[in-house]
Amino acid sequence: MSLNKFKKFPERFLWGGSVAANQFEGAYMEDGKGLSTADYSPKGIIGGYHEIKHGEHLTHEGIDFYHRYKEDIALLGEMGFKCFRTSIAWTRIFPNGDEETPNEAGLRFYDDVFDELAKYGIEPLITLSHYEMPMGLVNKYGGWRNRKLVDLFEKYSRIVFERYKDKVKLWITFNEINSIIHFPFTGGGIFMKDGENELQVQYQGAHHQFVASALAVKACHEIIPDAKIGCMIASGSYYPYTCRPEDVISALEYDRKILFFSDVQSWGEYPSYMNRYFEENGIEIEILPKDEELLKEHTVDFIGFSYYKSRCSSAFPEGLETSPGNLFGGVKNPYLNSSEWGYQIDPKGLRYTMNVLYDRYHKPLFIVENGLGANDILEERDIINDEYRIKYLNDHIVQAGEGIADGVELMGYLSWGPIDIVSAGTAEVRKRYGYIYVDRHDDGSGTFRRIKKKSFEWYKEVIYTNGASLKR
Ligand code: BG6
Repeated sequence: MSLNKFKKFPERFLWGGSVAANQFEGAYMEDGKGLSTADYSPKGIIGGYHEIKHGEHLTHEGIDFYHRYKEDIALLGEMGFKCFRTSIAWTRIFPNGDEETPNEAGLRFYDDVFDELAKYGIEPLITLSHYEMPMGLVNKYGGWRNRKLVDLFEKYSRIVFERYKDKVKLWITFNEINSIIHFPFTGGGIFMKDGENELQVQYQGAHHQFVASALAVKACHEIIPDAKIGCMIASGSYYPYTCRPEDVISALEYDRKILFFSDVQSWGEYPSYMNRYFEENGIEIEILPKDEELLKEHTVDFIGFSYYKSRCSSAFPEGLETSPGNLFGGVKNPYLNSSEWGYQIDPKGLRYTMNVLYDRYHKPLFIVENGLGANDILEERDIINDEYRIKYLNDHIVQAGEGIADGVELMGYLSWGPIDIVSAGTAEVRKRYGYIYVDRHDDGSGTFRRIKKKSFEWYKEVIYTNGASLKR
């Protein structure tokens, strides 16, 4: 299919948006909810663990979705959303993570949310673990460094699959599962001990998550045979900074640090290239005899990924400028512009990344996060003219279309934070991604009022025309 002929996205393409429980629900101690790792990260993922100061953490109130979900879902319905991704807060279901029985009030809240989505024909895509886990499991077991978490996660997964089997047919196990090697507290509830081999702990924790994920896939297929369950990685391919062979190898190695996580969950086995990495870094993964079989037999149905930017890699990075990213950055690409937060903007990198993933796995892909964080200005008469966001999203969705034209099977496109939420990285609200503005500010002030931005009507039209209204 030539570029110009690509006009329409597939029938039943899942247009929508994504959020995470801990970034928008608020009500962090209501109805029996326990405290999570996210509740202890008032400065965001980058700021790491801090003691709780009640009332001083923006995420504790979030945007108060917990009490305003009807109003918010009505707005998503008005935009014509086909799919809405959110996560279940593990701590609403098992407040400490290892109780005998689940918390009924927590289960009921998600019943209500899913019922509300159903009223508008919006399909939920639910992440089991999005950057939060019960703090009780961190204190008692040391988080994912401990094998015990595998059983507890399986139990939690089975409970929610049983409860929501008639309401939720799309699932993701772990959000950005590769985060554990960048932010072990957020990704795995892990505190490092003095003198230990951190990589060893991180990759062992990742192994436990792989096994837990495989068990969740198994349970999902048993309990909800018509469901699809995927993995989720923080993606964004690496380009070699130059065509020097050393830079090309460097990009290959950096890419593999990401792809390792989808390789294991999609191929069902550890890729051989990791043997060398493990050996050179003194890593020995404890793998139980049944693990290999579990990984092999319960691979994911689709590959979910976030894409905010591509990255560059050089074998000789000294003196080169770097650019940040949502979890990890890279060497700055001289051919790209940057967002206010320094993320480099590369729509074509999305098409490239889609092709890399599809060539590798031959499984459906799902773009479950993409978007532009910007400091929107609320003008008089409630006008928010976010043309820059429209351009960013338009250009990325057009490239997603090009990826489809290349032959990639793409289930849907979900932009990040369709309603403004608290940022995961830095816990700011002024870094806004939404089509809907929320009157809340970094100093904690604001009325929580929801206001439509210019991009609201734009995205509504994109969905209504199934992509035909995009500017190519
Ligand atoms: C992804 C996370 O890494 O990026 C989200 O899955 C996060 O939770 C998103 O919010 C955007 O990053 P940030 O730091 O701008 O919120």
